[in-house]
Amino acid sequence: MRHATCHAQPLAANMNRLQRTSLLTASFFALLGLAACGGESGSGAAADPTLGLPKMSRPSDWSEARAALGKQLFFDTRMSSNGEMSCRSCHYPENAWTDGKQFSQKVTGAMNTRNSPTLFNVGYQERFYWDGRAPSMEANIGAAWKGHMCGGDEQLATVVEGLNGVEGYVSKFQEIYGAAPDKDNVVDALCSFVRTLQAGGTPFDRFQAGDKTAISADAQAGWQLFQTSAACVSCHTPPLFTDLKFHNAGIGMDAESPDLGAFEKVDGAAKGSFKTPTMRGVAKTGPYFHNGSVATLAEAVKLMHGGGLDNPDLDPILKAFQGREALTDAQVGQIVAFLESLTPDLTFEEPKLP
Ligand code: HEC
Ligand code: HEC
Repeated sequence: MRHATCHAQPLAANMNRLQRTSLLTASFFALLGLAACGGESGSGAAADPTLGLPKMSRPSDWSEARAALGKQLFFDTRMSSNGEMSCRSCHYPENAWTDGKQFSQKVTGAMNTRNSPTLFNVGYQERFYWDGRAPSMEANIGAAWKGHMCGGDEQLATVVEGLNGVEGYVSKFQEIYGAAPDKDNVVDALCSFVRTLQAGGTPFDRFQAGDKTAISADAQAGWQLFQTSAACVSCHTPPLFTDLKFHNAGIGMDAESPDLGAFEKVDGAAKGSFKTPTMRGVAKTGPYFHNGSVATLAEAVKLMHGGGLDNPDLDPILKAFQGREALTDAQVGQIVAFLESLTPDLTFEEPKLP
């Protein structure tokens, strides 16, 4: 019973979004008795999102106040030139900060050519985007805001002007930055918020911390496979489940003019290489790969186990995977069960806007 209760959380998170204002939601939580999850394992509903993760080093001027301000801006459609988009439009908390689509549309109507990645744990990265082209989170988020939500420098300036007309923001920016909202301090606030999104405290982390009932027998078998015969940890290295490096897995390389990814953007990166995505939250981030070309986690696992898609620049580790015996359906199910156990608590309360 306690087990089932804990697993009901993602569903509860979705209900919470749809019925945010409804008292029903509150009684739903009460009925489930979510507090019971916390009991023996000392986690559950209030799982510590840093459990199982290394300490994240944040800039020395990072503060809770800046993060809280950034959280408001993240969810505010006044951040876009048409007044309809926010960062959330492509990064939903209940989807582990992705959008569930293959590709998203920018405010200009143009389509993105890469899948929206999770924002969990990006504070540990040194290079940003699938191809690592941004050397800092500030550069990345500044570009994301202008490119996806404004469409150019002029539109961005108009959006900033709009923020300067919101009394609640003007006073907060004065208090925190000693200045009116501008394109740099808005980006700083957004980065401060994104640096709070940590994906620890998962059932797997509780298992590792000693609660042997936190994950199923299948998930435990999947963890063994992931480390040993399937050799996934050479790139999806715990505890972040990414080496933060760039590899060619062959995805999309059969296109007429393939996306070359990190090539010539990150030193030494091969043609068609992309950042190893984290496995934390991966059960919620489909469709998969930089081009969103694979719908299910089971398919993605089989494809990676088989060494990706062959091409002249295929990563040597994956090359060595090619031709090995396929996983049985039961083994795929075990690896998927393990990956599902890396799902953090997705309950998230969206902020009130000024
Ligand atoms: C229209 C959809 C869309 C909107 C709106 C959007 N993003 Fe993104 N975001 C993406 C896509 C697509 C990528 C990946 C692009 C790439 O790798 O080339 C991305 C990448 C990122 C990354 C890099 C993650 C990584 O793994 O390196 C961060 C951080 C990020 N977005 C934050 C934000 C913030 C903050 C906002 C609001 C200012 C925002 N995004 C608005 C679609 C969007
Ligand atoms: C050589 C490094 C490497 C190894 C080994 C590796 N992966 Fe990956 N994995 C990657 C890279 C790089 C990507 C992204 C490729 C892309 O999108 O072009 C990826 C993507 C994935 C994805 C899709 C995640 C997402 O968010 O889109 C899954 C699932 C996955 N790998 C599982 C596995 C499993 C299971 C194994 C072991 C059988 C494994 N990987 C072995 C590097 C690796």
